[in-house]
Amino acid sequence: MSATVPQTDLVTVSIDGIDVRVPKGTLLVEAARSIQREIPVYCYHEKLGPAGLCRICLVEIEGMPKLQIACNTVVADGMKVHTTNPKVDDGRRAILEFFLLNHPLDCPICDKGGECDLQDYAMAYGQGASRMIDAKTAKPKAVDLGPTIVLDEERCIVCQRCVRFDQIITREASLRTEDRGAHTIIATASGKPFVSDFTGNVTELCPVGALTSKTYRFRSRPWDNHRTTTTCTQCAVGCQMHVDERGNTLLRTMSVEEDDAISDAWLCDRGRYNIGFVNDERRITQPLLKQDGAWMQIGWDDAIALWAAELKKAGTAAGVIGGGRLLNEEAYLAAFVHRAIGVKNLDHRVGAQTVVHHDSFASHVDLENADTIVTLGRPPSQLAPVFDLRIRKAVAQRGARLISVGDHPANSFVAETRATNAEELRVALGEKPGRVAMIWDGVMLPDGPALTAPLMELADALRYVLPEEPNGRGADAVGMRPVNGGLNTRAMLEAARDGKLGVLAILGANPMLRFPDRALVEAALRATPFVVVTDLFLTETAEFANLVLPVCSAFEKTGTTTDLAGDVLPVTGAVRPPDGVLADGDVLVMLAEALGVALPGVEAMEAAVRDLVRTPPAFAPDAAGPPALAPVPASRLRVIRQAAIFTGGGTLAFDARVAELRTAPRAALHPATAHALGVGDGDELQADAGDGNVVRGLSAVLDPRVPEDAVALVDGIVAAPLNVLGGAGSVKVQKALVPA
Ligand code: SF4
Ligand code: SF4
Ligand code: FES
Repeated sequence: MSATVPQTDLVTVSIDGIDVRVPKGTLLVEAARSIQREIPVYCYHEKLGPAGLCRICLVEIEGMPKLQIACNTVVADGMKVHTTNPKVDDGRRAILEFFLLNHPLDCPICDKGGECDLQDYAMAYGQGASRMIDAKTAKPKAVDLGPTIVLDEERCIVCQRCVRFDQIITREASLRTEDRGAHTIIATASGKPFVSDFTGNVTELCPVGALTSKTYRFRSRPWDNHRTTTTCTQCAVGCQMHVDERGNTLLRTMSVEEDDAISDAWLCDRGRYNIGFVNDERRITQPLLKQDGAWMQIGWDDAIALWAAELKKAGTAAGVIGGGRLLNEEAYLAAFVHRAIGVKNLDHRVGAQTVVHHDSFASHVDLENADTIVTLGRPPSQLAPVFDLRIRKAVAQRGARLISVGDHPANSFVAETRATNAEELRVALGEKPGRVAMIWDGVMLPDGPALTAPLMELADALRYVLPEEPNGRGADAVGMRPVNGGLNTRAMLEAARDGKLGVLAILGANPMLRFPDRALVEAALRATPFVVVTDLFLTETAEFANLVLPVCSAFEKTGTTTDLAGDVLPVTGAVRPPDGVLADGDVLVMLAEALGVALPGVEAMEAAVRDLVRTPPAFAPDAAGPPALAPVPASRLRVIRQAAIFTGGGTLAFDARVAELRTAPRAALHPATAHALGVGDGDELQADAGDGNVVRGLSAVLDPRVPEDAVALVDGIVAAPLNVLGGAGSVKVQKALVPA
């Protein structure tokens, strides 16, 4: 702790007779931790700071007549502290007795049993028997707090960690305490369900079994679980996470407390709760060959031999789409094998994004040191949720300014300035913007260069791109992109539609849901003689394949992934895949053997992956950029394509336990626009691009942040896929003629 701090800024404090030198301003509880002296805490948490509510952290400080709380005491030079002695033990015993007065002591049926701080401290510091003779105050035992969380009011010790997380970290302020004394309870401020993209964190912060996750309640005891630490691969943030399984069933994911560098010790609810698909019965467990319109199970050897034969037949008239959901090594193999046989049509980009990184290695933590943060395009909260918490931290705790450029507000929970043209952006930046961080969603807009011109003048800005696919940055770096005349995804699909490709391989991707033009994807898949898809389920895309190969989820294989900052992070398998299921990497090795392609050894491949990720191709979008937008007729509204974390069809659609979290189809309109259209909040709408391309079943949402000439629609919803509009820039919005 003291290595980088000037000696003059250190103080010496004696803790249980041990001298410790710590920076001025250190809290006593942290000074004690630095020499492994544990002081019990409930309300204190290092990410939330002190609250002084529970008083379990009592210590004796020489010269002070009464016991002091260690969590809110700053060390002073020469201070002599005793974390344990009869006086301290008496104080803690009294506090614990107070906590246990009304506590139900239902440890045998409590999910927190075995990892509960009340249980542990009662054992360590409690008096063993209760002197309470009155009846305990009874409270509701299973309060449904929202889609993800259940509250046991009797178990709550009112430490307020949950409330403070919601105020300090997410800034959403949906939770609060109600009532007083022994009757205090936790509730939502609005009286409505507790809804946030980060709810699961409160179950980890809760030191007792008061807040539990619906997906984990009553499913296991901690001592029966087996834990693996890995990287979350549900978006490109790369949060480190613990994965608990029992009997090869995934039970829960937990944050990694030490992960200051990436997750800051938090997880979003997508990463935390979207795990049930791994054990879903609908997974494919055998290669499937389509014959006469029906699926037929075949063996792996036959499947790979068929794929290799089709590739040989097609020669270089083949293409590969995907890689952004594969591990680095798998994407590397996909590119290596296909390039070795002369196939140049490789692209990991499946969605709207054309650029996945700048040649920049700004770290996650660097963002917190920015003076001005500028977001371009879709909000980070929906593309990279935990990364967004750093924006909120930089703004709310460190005083950074937030500017959002374009149609999308960056954040609803901290103050921001919006800029819709270059002049507004210039004014918002001001004369002295300080250290600027730019966060871009990687979508090229016709007016993008003009809009962002003031930013291009800032040579030393930190630059982040938020890849749409979890490993988009890695796949791009290791070769899954078109070079030397290869076709990009759109060009591949057009060539396939025109009968120019013999084989199309789609690896861990779902362009039928994600590519901006669904009709083009369908035409391409129908026209290609041989389409092979690797996936866990029969997705919208897999349904059009000739051959579907069942592959592992990221919880079932080992390798590395690359996060949005260019860090190469370990992915470690936590469970065995179902029998018959292989990792994409193993499948590609088999394909290489069948094609006679010699592969590099494992060590050489790992070294190549690291080198390639650390030396990414220079930042240069390979497309000329989108064409200028046509003027929008008066009867139509401009389409703003939004992202939402709870969309997608490959995993989320196959996890019944998170069904309630899935984003519902919606159309957000400015209230004035809605009024002009005669639309009210919640009305069922449809968006019609013409030519029969209609998205139905949209629920109207009135949002004053949406421009009056536009409608905001969410991309990637299985029930209302936006890409049926075929990339149309404008639509006619009207009340549903026929309810969906
Ligand atoms: S629910 Fe848990 S975290 Fe929230 S106040 Fe009660 S004990 Fe603390
Ligand atoms: S922010 Fe992304 S990486 Fe982190 S937990 Fe959520 S989905 Fe996973
Ligand atoms: S931990 Fe110190 S008062 Fe709660």
